[in-house]
Amino acid sequence: MKIQEPMAHASVYEWIGGEERVHALTERFYDLMDQEPDFAVLRAVHGSQLSNARQRLFWFLCGWMGGPQHYSQRFGHPQLRARHLPFAIGITERDQWLTCMDRAMAETQVDAALRARLRESFFQTADWMRNQGS
Ligand code: HEM
Repeated sequence: MKIQEPMAHASVYEWIGGEERVHALTERFYDLMDQEPDFAVLRAVHGSQLSNARQRLFWFLCGWMGGPQHYSQRFGHPQLRARHLPFAIGITERDQWLTCMDRAMAETQVDAALRARLRESFFQTADWMRNQGS
């Protein structure tokens, strides 16, 4: 599940700038989801509170990027597809998630080369989460 590490950095986690930057990215992602009409379909899949999702995505991304395994230390294997099965995820939800994350990466000044690479990795993961045809 871990994304491949770039040559010049020990890990994607190092490249992005560590825990503080992963946290900023996650916060921006959910703020945008909460506020922007472009992400209304995605927002509606979530419950009234985003605090649980914020905390868990932050923990998950730290490990996924090759940093501390906060998520798996608490919850074991992520089993992301199974954990998303209660939610109807089609193309619209997938694409809103990816666009929202891409904007969050741009707004938190993720390096352009890293952003392009993460965009690919996020696509693979988000597409694998799809459980509806459209
Ligand atoms: C494809 C579109 C996606 C939709 C519609 C979606 C939706 C959701 C929803 C509704 C939750 C539950 C939030 C809560 O408990 O309050 C959730 C949890 C979570 N999502 Fe997603 N998600 C998507 C893609 C992704 C991707 C691509 C990742 C990782 C890169 C991800 C990582 C997580 C994690 C780590 C959790 C917490 C799981 C847990 O411990 O229960 N999601 N997601």
